Amino acid sequence: MSNVNYGLRFESSGDSISAEPKLREVSDRSPVVPSSSVQELTPYEAVTSQAAIRAKPDGETVFKLDWNESTVPASPEVREAIAAHIAGDRGLNWYPQLGSEELIEALTDYTGLESENLLVTNGSDDALHLICDTFLDPGDHVVAPAPTYNHFITFAQSCGADIEKPIGESPFEKSIDAIRDSLRPSTRILYLVSPNNPTGVIYPPEDVAELCRDHPETLILLDEAYYEFAKVTGVDLVEEHPNIVVTRTFSKAFGLAGLRVGYLSGHPELVDALSRIYNPKSVNTLGQVGAKAALEDLEYLEEYLSEVEAAKGVLADYLDTTPVEYHMTPANFVVVRVPQLQETLDALEQRGIYVRDRSDYPGLDNCLRMTIGTVDQTRKVIDLISGVF
Ligand SMILES: Cc1ncc(COP(=O)(O)O)c(C=O)c1O
Repeated sequence: MSNVNYGLRFESSGDSISAEPKLREVSDRSPVVPSSSVQELTPYEAVTSQAAIRAKPDGETVFKLDWNESTVPASPEVREAIAAHIAGDRGLNWYPQLGSEELIEALTDYTGLESENLLVTNGSDDALHLICDTFLDPGDHVVAPAPTYNHFITFAQSCGADIEKPIGESPFEKSIDAIRDSLRPSTRILYLVSPNNPTGVIYPPEDVAELCRDHPETLILLDEAYYEFAKVTGVDLVEEHPNIVVTRTFSKAFGLAGLRVGYLSGHPELVDALSRIYNPKSVNTLGQVGAKAALEDLEYLEEYLSEVEAAKGVLADYLDTTPVEYHMTPANFVVVRVPQLQETLDALEQRGIYVRDRSDYPGLDNCLRMTIGTVDQTRKVIDLISGVF
């Protein structure tokens, strides 16, 4: 250690690096094939506007309203905590704190649960993946009312699950009867998103509790990625029911999508089962530091939530003056059905507004989903879209 010079930057030494590296030729076929369940999957199509937005000239106004991210930067306290950590002696050269201990501690205050109920994950997608890997065998029956968040479906399929997707009478209303009709004593997972993406449907805790009671051998997986906006939660149910796991994220209301931090809560035995394949260093240091700082500045969160709530009113008032059908959700997005979808999407993009085409989801033909941000942003969006719809 004594001869390490911390003041020096490491530079390439020894072999010189040629300006134009030679690329090795790689055969266009590989003899190595994926597992049989993965072979059946088509790649998850992550359609994002990021590349189109990056290609725009600097300074051009754009509204990225396609992935339900926060439309404002993270709390200044988050940014300060991350900057301070990077500047510190143990900035980035150490592995992250295993199991995100300090963040778990902060989450016990935020959720009202014990640390033994909690596991921090690399985004809530990672939690969904972990749950599928831990609880599913090939051929297992999984119920996921449609339309829903498709990434879970991919994870369950990759485990070889047999997925049933009940459809209710309306995609914008909860479909408890259709769900109950699909459930069997052998169903391994029931996946409920509340508020649902993309329809905003809420599954009230009373309904979820009944499902937990009536299906004791089914894992009720309640995805609350948008909980903060709706303020309806089933998280307390984990104290009463040993067969529920609730997942949440810092990607939406807290504005930390780029850091990749989520968490799950459940009965300690479920958390123990998940810990068998959980990677305790999967959440990077800056993610842990940033998420903890976000929980220490709930005032900032509340301010943003109030903005979004007020913006929904402003947008609804505008949409009421148009002929389009729209569904305002309890989350941070609205679903709009337009007569000519592709033309509308093109016209919005020309105005720098990027929304998500959800028309291939059951019951959502001609529908787009649009994230809602602050009042000021929404007024600007309305100015731009008037004339489009
Ligand atoms: C319902 C739902 N669950 C989970 C996620 C994944 O979020 P994260 O960024 O925490 O992985 C999303 C993201 O869009 C979502 O809509």
